[in-house]
Amino acid sequence: MMIKLILDAQEVETKADELLIDLLLRKDFKIPCVCYHHQLGPIQTCDTCIVEVNGQLGRACATKVSSGMQVQTKSARADAAQREAFDRLLKDHMLYCTVCDNNNGNCTMHNTTKMLAVDHQKIPFTQKPYEVDATNPFYRYDPDQCVLCGRCVEACQNVEVNETLSINWEDPHPRVLWDGGKPIGESSCVSCGHCVTVCPCNALMEKSMLGEAGYMSGLPKPALNGMIDIIKGIEPDIGYRSILKVSEAESAMRESRTRKTKTVCTYCGVGCSFDVWTRDRHILKIEPEEGPTNGISTCVKGKFGWDFVNSSDRLTSPLIREGDKFRKASWEEALTLVAQQFTENKAKNGPDALAFISSSKCTNEESYLMQKLARAVIGTNNMDNCSRYCQAPATEGLFRTVGYGGDSGSIRDIENAGMVLIIGSNTAEAHPVLATRVKQAHKLRGQKLVVADLRKHEMAERADLFFQPKPGTDIAWLCAITRYILDNGLEKAEFLDQWVNGLDEYYKSLEPFTLEFAAKTCGLTVELLKQVAHMIVEANGVCILWAMGITQHSMGSDSSTAISNLLLVTGNYMRTGTGAYPLRGHNNVQGAGDHGAHPENLTGYQNVHDPEVRARFEAAWKVSLPSTKGLDNFQMIEAIHAGKLKAMYLFGEEIALVDGNSNHVESALSKLEFFVAQDVFFSKTCQFANVIFPASPSLEKEGTFTSTERRIQRLYQVFEPLEGSRPDWRIIQDLANHLGAKWNYQHPSEIYQEIASLTPLFAGVTYERLEGYKSLQWPVAADGNDEPLLYVKRFPFPDGKARLHPVAMSIPTEPADEEFDLHFNNGCMLEHFHEGNMTYRVPGIREKVPHAFLEVSPELAAERGIQSGTWVQLISPYGKLRVRALVTDRVQGKELYMPMNSFESPVNLLTSSHTDTVTHTPAYKESSVRMVVLPEIGESPLPKVNSRFGHRTPQSGVEVERKWQRADYEMPKGEPVQAAAKRN
Ligand code: SF4
Ligand code: SF4
Ligand code: SF4
Ligand code: FES
Repeated sequence: MMIKLILDAQEVETKADELLIDLLLRKDFKIPCVCYHHQLGPIQTCDTCIVEVNGQLGRACATKVSSGMQVQTKSARADAAQREAFDRLLKDHMLYCTVCDNNNGNCTMHNTTKMLAVDHQKIPFTQKPYEVDATNPFYRYDPDQCVLCGRCVEACQNVEVNETLSINWEDPHPRVLWDGGKPIGESSCVSCGHCVTVCPCNALMEKSMLGEAGYMSGLPKPALNGMIDIIKGIEPDIGYRSILKVSEAESAMRESRTRKTKTVCTYCGVGCSFDVWTRDRHILKIEPEEGPTNGISTCVKGKFGWDFVNSSDRLTSPLIREGDKFRKASWEEALTLVAQQFTENKAKNGPDALAFISSSKCTNEESYLMQKLARAVIGTNNMDNCSRYCQAPATEGLFRTVGYGGDSGSIRDIENAGMVLIIGSNTAEAHPVLATRVKQAHKLRGQKLVVADLRKHEMAERADLFFQPKPGTDIAWLCAITRYILDNGLEKAEFLDQWVNGLDEYYKSLEPFTLEFAAKTCGLTVELLKQVAHMIVEANGVCILWAMGITQHSMGSDSSTAISNLLLVTGNYMRTGTGAYPLRGHNNVQGAGDHGAHPENLTGYQNVHDPEVRARFEAAWKVSLPSTKGLDNFQMIEAIHAGKLKAMYLFGEEIALVDGNSNHVESALSKLEFFVAQDVFFSKTCQFANVIFPASPSLEKEGTFTSTERRIQRLYQVFEPLEGSRPDWRIIQDLANHLGAKWNYQHPSEIYQEIASLTPLFAGVTYERLEGYKSLQWPVAADGNDEPLLYVKRFPFPDGKARLHPVAMSIPTEPADEEFDLHFNNGCMLEHFHEGNMTYRVPGIREKVPHAFLEVSPELAAERGIQSGTWVQLISPYGKLRVRALVTDRVQGKELYMPMNSFESPVNLLTSSHTDTVTHTPAYKESSVRMVVLPEIGESPLPKVNSRFGHRTPQSGVEVERKWQRADYEMPKGEPVQAAAKRN
């Protein structure tokens, strides 16, 4: 509903219920507001936004507009109140802007000083009795600059929901506290950077900015302090306005050397986007603000995990193997050699003796070119990417039931659910920013959270209901509660009638899945299963989130199918707050498969068996295409062992460490006649190569990524490629041309034009429509209309209906037995990413997590005489490794857990070659080991500075009421005490 009100004598029309501050800012009224940030909502700590509303003073940030409201923003009383409030803030903040690294045109304190034309402060600046805290590797807190606005507290408590920060309002000298008063480095702070991002001044600063952003801020400390003293000395005579002119000139000079470039995070599949601030090749900071998925949010990797780009061990020259060594080579020599070897190999053994592996860390355009190289230039469908290692079963489960292999909606739709069920996903660590939205909805809006997992991770601790099914048994409880719902008439009958096929056959297939059977199989109780079933049917919308705890099993596709079946039976599709959300691991796992890096599909899941599809691509590419399904990653390794696959080209993947059963994979790679690896670093996989091409990471190229939300976003080039390296798309094109292809793409946008022209799913995707922070969520129609929420009108099957797909019970491979008596679980962790090639090159992250570790339960530790730091050897039928134990109740009984990110002790030395029966995704989670306790005891593998040792201090937010209750607080009265300067 629209209403009218009067703002400073102007009649204005706006939406009812809008916050007055939002209206004033939107209409460009010059109104101070230090604590307000539109992504945080009203905090009400600073009082600088006080205006007159119908003759009464009130905070604009806490006032909703109403019809006929009369607002005066600059009346004498309002102006005096705003000045008084700001003066109180200046008591806590020394203005030394010229030598401040935060003086970049966006400092709220600086800009408000200017807006109010403050010349002198009434209340003098007063130091607080606290030291600067620089104990976190990435940022520091200066209490003397902190204006106690509480933005950081609000962000930490209610946006990130890590609940580390608070303010001790009752203290004579309030300040921001970490875990109630610990040094930052010893607190529960996960270094997500939310607090730093929203701080309106320099109290919280990225260390990478300090001494780097300004022209003079890098002066040695004594000189800097001297300058600050000089500035403060002249302030009483000349006033702030003159001093600010100098600082503004300095700030303007910075503009010319500080570049701000939008990029998309290169780590997990959430798809956070942000500006990268750089000076030459130095990263000043990551500034998130406008990203459609994340806004101000990031996790430690996105905010602080970029030092690897400038690592001294970047590859900067092609390398050619000579015996056991590599020698540097020119690009021309290396490309010529690869082209010659591929040509000879193909002539001798046929095109299917070659295989190609694309990267789910690289761009859509690069995956497209790789599969075009495989199919159009070489003539094989032996083409895959690493979604095979994590997400292929989820895609299969969704294709079987609802028709699209992607998340049903956006993260916003998950926020709208009445209940979120998380299965086999450590979301707070693997998809941190997505987890913040679930934590927010749970904390602030009463969303129910149910978690099924082996480990008691953060989401499990926060859940309303947490249960731990035995490893590999999820299919049993999923099917059993679905049967229970149908048995008891609790299904959404109308939805099933109208939108779903196959109910009868499916219902019959559920016969073995009684609650009693599931309870026994999963180690749960019948009561608990009934409780879960009732919570699902009673919730106003259910979203199910799952990840590798489901997919990396021999029945991963069937368990994913069972999830989708459950959603269909309970009517949880086709509207916001419902649906299936397989959480994609890498930044571009979704996009790599979408863009044809798949043995059976061309772009947009167009099948190679379909003659019409092939004909369209053949006409465009002017070649004839192979029509038989190619080998997937798993089959490639077996084909090498069988002597059928002779040559391989792989880029941006660490197959030697991340595929299951590493020893088996490594011996395959060493059997290849010719192997080309392309990477940013000399990876483990590179050790097996004949030729290595040096590639450029995402910050050095342009293109698009597709996140877990099916959201396609552009990344822009932050740096020139490091001398000697090239973006992957250029290398693939160069190689194609050495093989005679005559490609001539000058920019990734030209590649996308070709993709869109050949792919109905992406028909309307253009670089213009993705400019800046704009994004599209596929399918994208030719007119540019996209579908953030899928299945709103129909399911993409010929009759528009979804399909219930029967699945049968199956038991996990490699269960624990007498010889291998412990279940060996493995997966993601917050700080490191995948095999660790990028994050182990970030010193701050290494400080937090320097080594691999093995989580051991307190019970098992007591039984075997293990303490944190004890070295153990783990032995499986496939290999062994040494690692230090970490005793923690995150695991229980005979469960072990090890993060997968390690060069020294890669978990896949222990995993098997068993796979999901449908997609060949390795059954990483079905591994058993025996443990030998070694005599050495070292330090705990996880240092005390790791956030896992902290103690959160949850509270409802900044709790401003406690400030208002202080004896020395009163709301500014708006009494002018001196002639105020004219405002800017
Ligand atoms: S977790 Fe740490 S970095 Fe993140 S908002 Fe809280 S205090 Fe700041
Ligand atoms: S440190 Fe926190 S309370 Fe202090 S000025 Fe920054 S955001 Fe405000
Ligand atoms: S949540 Fe994922 S996409 Fe976002 S900053 Fe972290 S790693 Fe990057
Ligand atoms: S902006 Fe309204 S009280 Fe701070």
